[in-house]
Amino acid sequence: MFITFEGIEGTGKSTQIALLKSRLEAQGRRVVVTCEPGGSRIGAELRRVLLSLENRDLTPQAELFLYLADRAQHVAQVVRPALAAGAVVLCDRFADSTVAYQGYGRGMDTGLLHQLNAVAVDGLWPGLTILLDLDPETGLARAVARNVSEGKTNAEGRFEAESLAFHGRVRQGFLDQAARCPERIRVVDATGTPEEIALRVGALVEGRLNA
Ligand code: TYD
Repeated sequence: MFITFEGIEGTGKSTQIALLKSRLEAQGRRVVVTCEPGGSRIGAELRRVLLSLENRDLTPQAELFLYLADRAQHVAQVVRPALAAGAVVLCDRFADSTVAYQGYGRGMDTGLLHQLNAVAVDGLWPGLTILLDLDPETGLARAVARNVSEGKTNAEGRFEAESLAFHGRVRQGFLDQAARCPERIRVVDATGTPEEIALRVGALVEGRLNA
């Protein structure tokens, strides 16, 4: 099963993915954890280009095509093979991020983005998407604290540098998509301790895996 995690910065996606991985492995399942951008070998190069603050002059259109290129490569080389080998694939961000960030954040046409995503994913949509929902003030404060503690001041953080209004639009983009696809995208309240959130996520995932 292919499960993606979405949400604005600082919602705790990577923490929740790690907790879910342990939980599923304890049940004897094989789990592959991956991410976008950067989940494939070529994608790692694209990620560096996309997120470097040196590349502030990247145009919104060029940025879009790099995210889509990363996705196409990732689906073909990482996600599809892992699913074919019987793994549960947990992916940090996927196609919904393009609609939320490039569409709602940057103002690109969302209908067009859906079509371009369809080309990139080549028929491989997640069986379940966990949308970790949090207000941008709290999310950005968490993301900044994490960057400081990891010593990441400049190399990564183009989106952390965007305004609160930008992240408010991105959050709304995710919520609108969840309303459009209520079966696939499940909204999870991302306030509380990591363990509390993990209980919410675990219940949704097990409901789906055992269905
Ligand atoms: P990520 O590494 O998940 O960052 P974070 O851990 O801070 O959430 O993603 C990097 C950035 O890429 C993130 O700010 C969102 C952005 N992004 C897009 O704008 N469009 C996309 O299609 C994807 C996958 C990510």
